[in-house]
Amino acid sequence: MARRLFEGNSPAEGDRILYPGCGGEAPFAKAVEAICREEGYPLPSGLAVENDPGLAEQAEGLEINHLRLRKVDFLGPEMAEEGPFDYVLGNPPYVPIEGLSEEEKARYRSSFQVAKGRFDLYLLFFERALSLLAPGGRLVFVTPEKWEYVETARPLRKMVTGGGRGSANYHVEEINHIEEDAFPQLTAYPSVTAIRRIEDDAAPADLATRIRTRDGTSHRTQLPSGGESWAAAVRGKDLSGMETGLTLGDVTVRVSPGMATGADAVFVFSKDEVPKGLSPKWTRPTVSGEELTHGGASNPQSVFACPYRSDGTLPKESELGAFGEWAARHRERLENRSCVQKTGKQWYAWHETPPMQDILRPKIVFKDIAKEPKFWAERTGEIIPRHTVYYLVLEEGVSFDQLLDYLNGPVAKEWMEAHCQRAANGFLRLQSRVLRKLPVPTRVARERQGALAL
Ligand SMILES: C[S@@+](CC[C@H](N)C(=O)[O-])C[C@H]1O[C@@H](n2cnc3c(N)ncnc32)[C@H](O)[C@@H]1O
Repeated sequence: MARRLFEGNSPAEGDRILYPGCGGEAPFAKAVEAICREEGYPLPSGLAVENDPGLAEQAEGLEINHLRLRKVDFLGPEMAEEGPFDYVLGNPPYVPIEGLSEEEKARYRSSFQVAKGRFDLYLLFFERALSLLAPGGRLVFVTPEKWEYVETARPLRKMVTGGGRGSANYHVEEINHIEEDAFPQLTAYPSVTAIRRIEDDAAPADLATRIRTRDGTSHRTQLPSGGESWAAAVRGKDLSGMETGLTLGDVTVRVSPGMATGADAVFVFSKDEVPKGLSPKWTRPTVSGEELTHGGASNPQSVFACPYRSDGTLPKESELGAFGEWAARHRERLENRSCVQKTGKQWYAWHETPPMQDILRPKIVFKDIAKEPKFWAERTGEIIPRHTVYYLVLEEGVSFDQLLDYLNGPVAKEWMEAHCQRAANGFLRLQSRVLRKLPVPTRVARERQGALAL
């Protein structure tokens, strides 16, 4: 990373370098000192920032000649006046929003443009560090790669790709997806990013970004500006030829997770062990993610005890009959669910009210986390998917089989691999928000197209 920082950009007398969150060992400062000695570069004047008192004390004891240490919060007001720096080098902390106090969240939200939604501290480190860069200066950070595509990082992506003169003052020069075990404290998919602050009066001729992928290939790409996901550009897939003007969102009534009851241990039975009196009036076949993997959706082995009518209404307690007698035996457990305690649901209701008019229709079902995307037909319209199964219900006039074939085919798969977020172990997260943007060929929706054109 330190070599990348100086590539085509070696230090001159009087340059300044910043190490945010330097840790007790200040490894980046040591690397800079070694490289400058080796290459005969003048040592830049360094500022290391560490707010952990123990680590700061440890760093203070290191013999690193070019370093001054500040024991302050890098995100606090003390740092706002410290710039400009010709170089920034770091491994910022990865602290999800759950790790922050209410006071911290409020303070960060009011002082950082990128502190939106469920932000993570490393996004804020980017913003602060970028603001401290001198024109022409370069920053190199190692972070999880997900800021390239997650919704929470949209403001940061926008900040660094705003388009050159005027709003954007930065050029993302390189994104390097490094080996997974290169930085032990990173949980998944580390990425080293080099960003340059454009000189104030420079006309940015080429703002292309070099991408190095984990399979050893590299390519140049133009990152989309305006904050949208960089996933397709980074993965080297130009899928713009796929655009048809029609998306999965256009041809479906809904793309949703299945039903949560808040107590599946009570409400779900093997189909051979349904308590007397419940079947058939008070049961509905159901399928879990696990069952889908092993047997698809055509022959589900489990059922839900279901108090809802086919129109989605919930009977009064006095109308529950055999369901009421069975449910009464589990009343205490059912009353303890958060939906009853906090949101005032009836004790015998499910955690979520099933949208029966949509769910009791033929549908396509899938798992939201999958090694490879796979979609199954649920043609009976009788199965209510469990919470671990997602389902999509088609608009009128859309061909079920054509859409299913398309979703399981190579074109849709390539698009999902380029656009969907990664979970651990290379699994894909098929979030409904992303899937709704999947382009679909017009042939799946011939009749629907007519309606859309009106
Ligand atoms: C992921 S570690 C990286 C440490 C070091 N750069 C390395 O690569 O070994 C992040 C460091 O940032 C420090 N840190 C976290 N929040 C900070 C803040 N608000 N201000 C300054 N330092 C912070 C942590 O104490 C930790 O040492």
